[in-house]
Amino acid sequence: MYTPTPLASHPDEVRIISKRFGHGAQNIDRYIELGGYKAARKALEMQPDDIINEVKASGLRGRGGAGFATGMKWSFIPKQSEAPKYILINGDESEPATCKDRLLVEYDPHAIIEGVIIAGLAVGAKLGFIYLRGEYRYLLEIMEKAVADAYVKGFLGNSIFGSGREFNILTHTGAGAYEVGEESALMESLEGKRGLPRLKPPFPAIKGLYGGPTVINNVETIATVPPIILNGGKWYVSFGPNEKNGGTRLTCLTGHFNKPGVYELPLGYPSKKMIYEVGGGIPNGRKLKALVPGGSSTFLLNQEEAESATMDYDWFARRGEFLGSGGVVAIDDQTCMVKVALRIMKFYQHESCGWCIPCREGTDWLKKTLTRFHDGGGVNKDIDQMLYLANNMAGRTFCALGDAAAFPTISIVKKWRQEFEEHLDGKPCPFEPVSREMAIA
Ligand SMILES: Cc1cc2nc3c(=O)[nH]c(=O)nc-3n(C[C@H](O)[C@H](O)[C@H](O)COP(=O)(O)O)c2cc1C
Ligand code: SF4
Repeated sequence: MYTPTPLASHPDEVRIISKRFGHGAQNIDRYIELGGYKAARKALEMQPDDIINEVKASGLRGRGGAGFATGMKWSFIPKQSEAPKYILINGDESEPATCKDRLLVEYDPHAIIEGVIIAGLAVGAKLGFIYLRGEYRYLLEIMEKAVADAYVKGFLGNSIFGSGREFNILTHTGAGAYEVGEESALMESLEGKRGLPRLKPPFPAIKGLYGGPTVINNVETIATVPPIILNGGKWYVSFGPNEKNGGTRLTCLTGHFNKPGVYELPLGYPSKKMIYEVGGGIPNGRKLKALVPGGSSTFLLNQEEAESATMDYDWFARRGEFLGSGGVVAIDDQTCMVKVALRIMKFYQHESCGWCIPCREGTDWLKKTLTRFHDGGGVNKDIDQMLYLANNMAGRTFCALGDAAAFPTISIVKKWRQEFEEHLDGKPCPFEPVSREMAIA
């Protein structure tokens, strides 16, 4: 039997996109009762440029990881185009530790549909696609039912809300590959091909899905659009610290937190409060050693950095780092950082599509070296060799998976070099007395 995901909560949350969670909004009538589809009706009365300007004013940035300004992205779509324009919603959500798009589909699928309609009106597209992660097959039913219900109400179809304007939505699921979340690979996959990334330029805004100009947005980004249109960009931006960091975001606290869960926090929220108050601190009185700020593709923070960070794009950009996709992992002081690096690399090595050499070979070498190292077979020069390899992957690959694999590795080797040294010369992992005994036996 289907059981909805339990919900976390904290008084500091500002519930804009999660406000309908747990209120039965999967049902279209309930969604309407809770104020749903008002924003789409309002957008129908607006000029396309005014919709885009409202999104620009909101300071909304893409919640899929890269953090690109959403209004700006929409404004790149040419006004005139012979090829049809499309909206493509990226629900592939496969970044380790990030598990918030699934809640939006599970609890508030009509918010996504409404956002897609508004994006379509803004850029002049008549067709939108919602692409869900293959493993999220159980969510497909929810999404498909919501889309079907919207058609029955006349909110989708040949004359949406009786306006005489056409807009349709199709759903699609992947086959379960992280790489397919990359926007150009997503388009390839949707078109029925292998999910390999495309060379860029041309960018999707000019030549995207089926050769037409395409807006690609994350599920959370698009679900944030209806409240922005309803209440105005100025209203939304005021929740964040400045005009480039508008509003709130869903933050997934996982790993060594006393109170893991998905929380909607304002951008710029102090990381220290997030760790010790919202997340309830670290279990069993242990200390925090490291923090993954936003999915496994990000540079890890050490304790001091984690306790002085603010959770907005600027704080990370100033350091040449990334806020990422919302998956925050606490790592306690009993955890081996070599093993953390290995665990992350195993993922990227498995998910590399193998197209470009720095990523294919780099992830494989790093995984093998980290495995040998963790097992006590490391030598001193391996440490710099790993840094060298990771630095040579970053910025040298077709898609950002190469960077994603390199960044956490670079930060772990640099910030916890001492732990690598403690593994040298046949020494067993100092954090794993149990496995040491087993190895000796
Ligand atoms: C390897 C890789 C995987 C990605 N996976 C996702 C994903 O699962 N969901 C997502 O929204 N964006 C993902 N992205 C980012 C997308 O390429 C793209 O930037 C995003 O969907 C744009 O939407 P946004 O501007 O609303 O964030 C991934 C990027 C890379 C390089
Ligand atoms: S970086 Fe990796 S995943 Fe991306 S295209 Fe190259 S080999 Fe494939």
